[in-house]
Amino acid sequence: MSTKIAIVTGGSRGLGKNTALNLAKKGNDVIITYHSKLAEANEAVKEIEQLGQKAVALQLNVTDSKSFSAFAAQVKTALKQKWNSDHFDFLINNAGTGVHVSFAETSEVQFDQMVNEHLKGVFFLTQKLLPLIADGGRIVNVSSGLTRFALPGYAAYATMKGAIETLTKYLAKELGARGIAVNVVAPGAIETDFSGGAVRDNEQLNSFVAGQTALGRAGLPDDIGGMIASLLSDDNRWVNAQRIEASGGMFI
Ligand SMILES: NC(=O)c1ccc[n+]([C@@H]2O[C@H](COP(=O)([O-])OP(=O)(O)OC[C@H]3O[C@@H](n4cnc5c(N)ncnc54)[C@H](OP(=O)(O)O)[C@@H]3O)[C@@H](O)[C@H]2O)c1
Repeated sequence: MSTKIAIVTGGSRGLGKNTALNLAKKGNDVIITYHSKLAEANEAVKEIEQLGQKAVALQLNVTDSKSFSAFAAQVKTALKQKWNSDHFDFLINNAGTGVHVSFAETSEVQFDQMVNEHLKGVFFLTQKLLPLIADGGRIVNVSSGLTRFALPGYAAYATMKGAIETLTKYLAKELGARGIAVNVVAPGAIETDFSGGAVRDNEQLNSFVAGQTALGRAGLPDDIGGMIASLLSDDNRWVNAQRIEASGGMFI
């Protein structure tokens, strides 16, 4: 089988980087995107190359939908130059940050930031990249356990994640004709830089999460990246339009 090419948005750190490395371990090549951390992105590219796969890092701001045409053109050029190809196979919509603020105190600026990162960004980036995705390709949208259970402070963030879960079904329905399967992966609380590294660095939050998780600890990036890479393997080709939670059994 020929080598597949994946685009992982937000592949410079955290879950995106871990997914990119796990895809590389399974023999895939990767285009990662970064927002502000070029050095981290270059390091991720180096680590993927050390695994024997090809990689490229491109800058992307998912809140700037006007830049998506130019980004798609950069992807096209990279595909031609590095792979002599017109298409890539897997899109993993992962990039983004969170806000932690009560519903009562959420400002329009914070709300719009969440819309633009997690909903508008995913919607129009996927639309712009669609002609470059190979027939038979796959899309994974990264959601959150917070769409199944509610924790105070995540109304704006979780609302957008709920929306991409709905979008996922529509993408699966409309792209099925091209053989493109579209799924959601919903991680529980994972120790990354997300939300200022709170799950990793705030001991109280870390033990709260561990106490609410059947497997007895907070999640680690390695609990997610390998799972996404496996979902994208040929063995899982018939999984479509699904929300798959990887939370160690949080709040069950
Ligand atoms: N960690 C968790 O507990 C958790 C749980 C459920 C779901 N998630 C979801 O998982 C995804 C990844 O989170 P993470 O924990 O890996 O976070 P992270 O460690 O903070 O990494 C965030 C990544 O997104 C990129 N990014 C941030 N803002 C961006 C923007 N405006 N445009 C483009 N890229 C941007 C960052 O790029 P730079 O490095 O260049 O800044 C970085 O690569 C997010 O969608 C998050 O909602 C996380």
